[in-house]
Amino acid sequence: MTFQPFAAARLCALALASKRLRWLQALVLSWVVLSPARAVEITITCGPNGNDVEFCLKHAQAWAAQTGNTIKNFSPPTSPTEKLALYRQLFAAKSGDIDVVQIDTVWPGILKDHLLDLKPYSKGIESEHFPAIIANNSVNGKLLGMPWYTDAGLLYYRADLLKKHGLKVPTTWEELTQTALKVQSAERAKGDLDFHGYVFQAKAYEGLTCNALEWVSGHGGGTVVGPDGQITIGNAQAVKALNMAASWIGSISPAGVLNYEEEEARGVFQNGNALFMRNWPYAWSLMQKSGSLVKGKVGVAKLPGSPSAATLGGWQLGVSKYSKHAAVAADLVMYMTSASVQKARAISGSYNPTLPALYKDPEVIQANEFMATLADVFANSVARPTTATGLKYPQVSQSFWNAAHEVMSKRATGEEAVAKLESRLKQIRRKHW
Ligand code: GLC
Repeated sequence: MTFQPFAAARLCALALASKRLRWLQALVLSWVVLSPARAVEITITCGPNGNDVEFCLKHAQAWAAQTGNTIKNFSPPTSPTEKLALYRQLFAAKSGDIDVVQIDTVWPGILKDHLLDLKPYSKGIESEHFPAIIANNSVNGKLLGMPWYTDAGLLYYRADLLKKHGLKVPTTWEELTQTALKVQSAERAKGDLDFHGYVFQAKAYEGLTCNALEWVSGHGGGTVVGPDGQITIGNAQAVKALNMAASWIGSISPAGVLNYEEEEARGVFQNGNALFMRNWPYAWSLMQKSGSLVKGKVGVAKLPGSPSAATLGGWQLGVSKYSKHAAVAADLVMYMTSASVQKARAISGSYNPTLPALYKDPEVIQANEFMATLADVFANSVARPTTATGLKYPQVSQSFWNAAHEVMSKRATGEEAVAKLESRLKQIRRKHW
């Protein structure tokens, strides 16, 4: 039922005109007081990657149908780097154009001044989510985002081709390189000239920071900046990791990877044109769909490395401080991050829940076996250095992805790029982060 101002006014006049109609006065009063807030339009940012529009918008619309509100979708750019730039622009203008915002794991500190504290709306439900994610979303005692799904880098492989060539899932980056070379040569010799050994994300954006952190960390080269704020990138293992990635370009990986985000890599792999792919969990459900050329042929493993390192990612939903309908928008956030929506999204979209209880749900695990078998990958994933570098993280990340991109496009050696990156980071830090 929505509040109809004219009908209410007429009833009020009627009731007040007659002293005998006390019951009607009481009815009108309770209707006015108890009637739900007026229906409003809430703008959410769903998509445009992979499953995102389908499994985000569909649930938002289900909430709208239940509450009588309406949903407008504001489809942001695919790259998180461009998304962040857009949000910062809108927030700087105090724009109320977006009510519900998708927030990357690495953003709560950066966007803290523009997000509503959700504590008055959450009624303590945050205690059911992974405590580390809640801690990441809390700034100065305020809950700036409700966890929506968590992410970690995974290695997707063509189980059928490894079997055919009598090879194992690689556990070191060197082994991955060798295996990719062997299978690529064999498949190309057979006439499949578009076949590649390994696809990943190497465009100059946040996704490359995630990939490069996995190579550096997986070579024991640290996390660029340590938890204590020390700049740690200047080491031989980091150099080795970047040189290794550069050796893949034009060899086991197409030169095009230098412009790939997640979806480009998935496109190549899902069309049957690659042996290995690095991607996030969402890619799993898309590969199981009818029409996928690799359905039933794919396995998921932890990324190679000694130790294996998977970058921690994930998204939260928050409410813009400039929203004109903050309470209604917060209600949508609570709905979208609830156990039932997270369960549905995990089953049909392979989005990792942020509620530990859902990892014991047989339907969730049946749809995504890797969520159980790779539990240690999710538990031990490597965080990007946001806590240590605070508001300077975007500059740190950009310098890191630029260094990796330069090495892979053969504009610098690993040694040169790492030395330059180290001095750039010192400039960014100056006296403190
Ligand atoms: C995924 C991750 C996010 C990361 C992004 C990089 O969306 O969840 O944390 O920043 O990929 O492309």
